[in-house]
Amino acid sequence: MAPAAALALSLLLAFLAIGPCAAADSIDLWPMPQSVSHGTQKLYVKKDITMSMVGSTYSDEKSILKDAFQRMLDLITLNHVIDGIDPGSSVLTCVNVVVRTPEDELSFGADESYNLTVPTTGDPLYAQIQAQTVFGALQALQTFGQLCYFDFTSRLIELNSAPWIITDRPRFPYRGLLIDTARHYLPVKTIKGVIDAMAYSKLNVLHWHIVDEQSFPIEIPSYPKLWNGSYSYSERYTMSDAIDIVRYAEKRGVNVLAEIDVPGHARSWGIGYPALWPSESCREPLDVSKNFTFEVIDGILSDFSKIFKFKFVHLGGDEVNTSCWTRTPHIEGWLNNNHMNVSDAYRDFVLRSQKIAISHGYDVINWEETFNSFGDKLDPKTVVHNWLGEDVAPKVVAAGHRCIVSNQDKWYLDHLDASWEGFYMNEPLKGINDTKQQQLVIGGEVCMWGEEIDASDIQQTIWPRAAAAAGCGLRLRSSQMTQDLSRQDWRASGVC
Ligand SMILES: *[C@@H]1O[C@H](CO)[C@@H](O)[C@H](O)[C@H]1NC(C)=O
Ligand SMILES: *[C@@H]1O[C@H](CO)[C@@H](O)[C@H](O)[C@H]1NC(C)=O
Ligand SMILES: *[C@@H]1O[C@H](CO)[C@@H](O)[C@H](O)[C@H]1NC(C)=O
Ligand SMILES: *[C@@H]1O[C@H](CO)[C@@H](O)[C@H](O)[C@H]1NC(C)=O
Ligand SMILES: *[C@@H]1O[C@H](CO)[C@@H](O)[C@H](O)[C@H]1NC(C)=O
Ligand SMILES: *[C@@H]1O[C@H](CO)[C@@H](O)[C@H](O)[C@H]1NC(C)=O
Repeated sequence: MAPAAALALSLLLAFLAIGPCAAADSIDLWPMPQSVSHGTQKLYVKKDITMSMVGSTYSDEKSILKDAFQRMLDLITLNHVIDGIDPGSSVLTCVNVVVRTPEDELSFGADESYNLTVPTTGDPLYAQIQAQTVFGALQALQTFGQLCYFDFTSRLIELNSAPWIITDRPRFPYRGLLIDTARHYLPVKTIKGVIDAMAYSKLNVLHWHIVDEQSFPIEIPSYPKLWNGSYSYSERYTMSDAIDIVRYAEKRGVNVLAEIDVPGHARSWGIGYPALWPSESCREPLDVSKNFTFEVIDGILSDFSKIFKFKFVHLGGDEVNTSCWTRTPHIEGWLNNNHMNVSDAYRDFVLRSQKIAISHGYDVINWEETFNSFGDKLDPKTVVHNWLGEDVAPKVVAAGHRCIVSNQDKWYLDHLDASWEGFYMNEPLKGINDTKQQQLVIGGEVCMWGEEIDASDIQQTIWPRAAAAAGCGLRLRSSQMTQDLSRQDWRASGVC
């Protein structure tokens, strides 16, 4: 396990108080599955416990499941030497995984539901996982791993409170975490560590805000000078690096959402191609008057479509300050010739970029300013990404658009004083009563903007607060849970 991921895990475990001190009747699972019942018997996990797939129609050709099982074992042993004496009975020898479909391509809306049972009788004694897809089975293995711990007295892996019957499915298909590699470069290894930790919390979308005004770290073969805008020669990602990150994430059930944020937040593009700046002295937003600007966007999205296979691409569109457009004579002339003011030009820029993305097979996500400024003009399949306040989501879904909730007051991880209780309590469906409209909220996302962090502290800043969001806001908000939360003692209830 990568050190950063191990660190994140230990933080998470400390947060969850999983371990030998846990009371036998407490349920130390995070995020809490939809339905859990359990008994009181202690089991032991055989040191060389195996996995079987009897009854599966899935062949695991890509070794998604087998590798996940090995990672789960590494996680529960945490490098301890398992040298206790085999107790002879009550020993789990196997986990049988039944996956009902052969599909192994991760896609938006993949069925992530699973059932997990750990019985106390049977010869051999084995746990059973049932899932529609291998990605549901991955979630089940995370849950199983959380039932197990190394006991320092027996020196064995133990599993308390059996028998267990667990049924689970996520509340939302989109459970995201944003990382930002433009404000500080993040090494590939660091990004992989974040993906590992996302899987522990059953988050399933890594929103990669790759470039911004400060730097352009990724290789774009169609426009090879774009990454001249990186901080330095070495603070870059090759296309092969990006492919590697996407594959790594998919094997863990995590989709990668790539973002280019246009037309604002793009000053770094002009280091390699100064024609993208309105002028040498006024460098953003991107020059709306030149076709070259849209040719570059087309080149980037064409290259993206070969590696970022997620259904969505994010085109930003936030915080556009158009004063450079009116202060630059050739753009002002262009606006006049086209009978446009800067608001029209901003709208046209976003809509033209949307069309380019759609031509490459993507559905588009844009930050909420686009909706707030010209919502009725957006492509109907646009997903509006909230960040400003908490009242936009009801308007977005009432207008028939899909929505992702990331209200900054609660779900911005770079707000270092935002409390974990706030992350936990944030409700994506707040103010939306109509069930059809509720379904347009595809999920939520916590955002780790990169100004305040770098590779040295990103994990410690993301966790455990992102796990708190994964716990209730994104994972579970059944009426039972709402009751738990409304009780005075919810913090001490052991559930949260
Ligand atoms: C889990 O078990 C329930 C009840 O037996 C069943 O209805 C459901 O289809 C199962 N889910 C999965 C993912 O196997
Ligand atoms: C971009 O970088 C390459 C080397 O990586 C260099 O040869 C070229 O001059 C740079 N171009 C600009 C416009 O900075
Ligand atoms: C720019 O693109 C537009 C739309 O595709 C086209 O009508 C126009 O002729 C192009 N202008 C130049 C100078 O190529
Ligand atoms: C917009 O940009 C101009 C020129 O770069 C700057 O002077 C102005 O302060 C900016 N406005 C806002 C609201 O940031
Ligand atoms: C821009 O022009 C449109 C009409 O094309 C108008 O509705 C809008 O109010 C104008 N915006 C500004 C900021 O002048
Ligand atoms: C939604 O329901 C709540 C509670 O029943 C109510 O207070 C609120 O006004 C409703 N909101 C809308 C937009 O209908």
